[in-house]
Amino acid sequence: MLARVWSASIVGIDAVKVGVEVDVSGGLPGIAILGLPDAAIQEAKERVKATLKNAGFAFPMRKIVINLTPADLRKEGPCFDLPISVGILAASEQVSADLLADYLFLGELSLDGSLRPVAGVLPIAATAQKMGIAGLVLPIDNAQEAAVVQGLAVYGCKNLSEVVDFLNNPGLYKPVQLDDKVEMLHTASLHLTDLKDVKGQAHARRALEIAAAGGHNLIFVGPPGSGKTMLARRLPGILPPLEFAESLEVTRIHSVAGLLKNRGSLVRDRPFRSPHHSASGPSLVGGGSFPRPGEISLSHNGILFLDELTEFKRDVLEFLRQPLEDGYVTISRTKQSVMFPAQFTLVASTNPCPCGYYGDTIQQCTCSPRQREQYWAKLSGPLMDRIDLQVAVNRLKPEEITQQSIGEASLTVRERVQQARDRAITRFQGEANLRCNAQIQSRHLQRWCKLDDGSRNLLEAAIRKLGLSARASDRILKVARTIADLAGDDELKANHIAEAIQYRTIDRMQ
Ligand SMILES: Nc1ncnc2c1ncn2[C@@H]1O[C@H](COP(=O)(O)OP(=O)(O)O)[C@@H](O)[C@H]1O
Ligand SMILES: [Mg+2]
Repeated sequence: MLARVWSASIVGIDAVKVGVEVDVSGGLPGIAILGLPDAAIQEAKERVKATLKNAGFAFPMRKIVINLTPADLRKEGPCFDLPISVGILAASEQVSADLLADYLFLGELSLDGSLRPVAGVLPIAATAQKMGIAGLVLPIDNAQEAAVVQGLAVYGCKNLSEVVDFLNNPGLYKPVQLDDKVEMLHTASLHLTDLKDVKGQAHARRALEIAAAGGHNLIFVGPPGSGKTMLARRLPGILPPLEFAESLEVTRIHSVAGLLKNRGSLVRDRPFRSPHHSASGPSLVGGGSFPRPGEISLSHNGILFLDELTEFKRDVLEFLRQPLEDGYVTISRTKQSVMFPAQFTLVASTNPCPCGYYGDTIQQCTCSPRQREQYWAKLSGPLMDRIDLQVAVNRLKPEEITQQSIGEASLTVRERVQQARDRAITRFQGEANLRCNAQIQSRHLQRWCKLDDGSRNLLEAAIRKLGLSARASDRILKVARTIADLAGDDELKANHIAEAIQYRTIDRMQ
């Protein structure tokens, strides 16, 4: 007999509906899986066989052919254990097949028949909802994650027997409800690091506030121990929580990457990722034979922090250039090409030279001018061009070190950041996908960053003197827009431009 069960597979951060056809017929006992399955699906043969027996069902000692459709889509992962098992049970008439066409199944099986959670449930649930199916049947530990999608009935089951019982008596089961309490748990987990611990460094604190308000890329340059890492780690604490739509995007990416710590809730805090400098290209931008999001996508709508930027391999840094401009990355494979969102704010830190003390007030720099030149060449003009806020961090003066910190707390700064962001959002009304000033496209600059004569002259002089590219000049305008938003000004003024320009001077001074 032939049975057909529906499931889904992840492509990028989307899901594609997959049909699982199971035919049980006479012939020599055996089992074959067709339709581009990966190794984990091939292993399902053995797992399913053992599981059915352990869960008290009969494994048909006949010829079983399993076909996954569409045939040209590569399918992966253990989430097909459940649909394959249900298909075998239906084809051997051990469970009612009446409802099979109306539901979508996914889940990994343990040998004792219990269902284990799988990755990528949120995109699958979103696809299921669009398809208008009657319900999604999955492991109970995934149920809350799927329930985030509104208008979809989600049935969380503990084990295979429960799924069988559900198919035989669907009326007895109720879809799970989204647990508000779980969702709240995740919010406002205010970071343990607070700006009030930072002494002095008014200039760097101001740059952090601008970066947070406009989503601008930032680099701290200074000698070891000057507080660069400490400052950068305080950026998440002054960022407002994700908007609902942003939250869905982030959760979707983290779901596919299998990184959701708190299943059953949306990610509410802006991501802050700080990969080690030994990171490879694929781990940073994404890759693998079934492409998975890399660090730049995991930090979508949040921060990618590259500490000690010059320690990263140069070719790895080059990978960042395109995503920094486009806000997404495309990964091409022979069978498929997928796109991952990567709208992140880059925050970096670096020493000013190989020995670390160029420009320091106490320690003498021992590098030759040529060594310093080579050091900066590694950061490459094109990458530095895309960093709007280039900030020198000097070590604290002795009297600053011994005094009590009197800086503002993160929460106070965050309120100002939120107000500036709200101002920008109001201005962007009607522009899809535009959420902060850093995302303004060049063609819109005319509209939102109009210059008066004084500002124009100032900017022209800076372009000439610092040899700025057109891209750098566009970026100065966007930073100036954020500075104006923080000041509550609708018009760009010369002092906004002047402040924005002074954040572009470091890489020109080496
Ligand atoms: N402005 C500051 N206020 C308070 N402590 C600071 C400050 N700058 C540095 N420190 C102290 O010095 C330590 C080293 O700072 P760190 O951020 O690691 O420096 P860097 O990354 O520039 O080498 C910090 O953990 C902190 O204890
Ligand atoms: Mg450091």
